[in-house]
Amino acid sequence: ENENLSVDHRLSQVCEVLKENIPYYDWVGFYFKNGDKEELKLRSFAGEPTDHTIIPFGKGICGQVAVSNENFVVPDVKAQTNYIACSINVKAEIVVPLFLNGENIGQIDIDSHTPDPFSKEDEEFLQWVNEKVAEVLS
Ligand code: SME
Repeated sequence: ENENLSVDHRLSQVCEVLKENIPYYDWVGFYFKNGDKEELKLRSFAGEPTDHTIIPFGKGICGQVAVSNENFVVPDVKAQTNYIACSINVKAEIVVPLFLNGENIGQIDIDSHTPDPFSKEDEEFLQWVNEKVAEVLS
């Protein structure tokens, strides 16, 4: 129980550090598979609170990444049909799956108020962040 608290705390710190240091990261959160359910649950975030704390697999950008196991870069959220809007200010989004022992157990999700801000470097950086987080979770 205490260990989970400290993991939650560390995940929150990761979210804060990313949001505060990268100007176009306006909301940063970690979703994880919710037990045995076919859904994601928000575990930590930095930025405005969202109503979407539970997301069924397949729904929205996050839900699609839960089943595709692939990074999903969205330069323009308006162009997406399977998208869950959290804030009218969001222009772009990136979701990178988080693997533990080869299994997709969750993801980092970043919203941006800047149009088309995410590059290959963001993908590589966030994959690295997720590898570090997986070490904390293992
Ligand atoms: N936009 C996401 C939902 C989560 S919010 O960005 C925090 C989606 O389409 O899955």
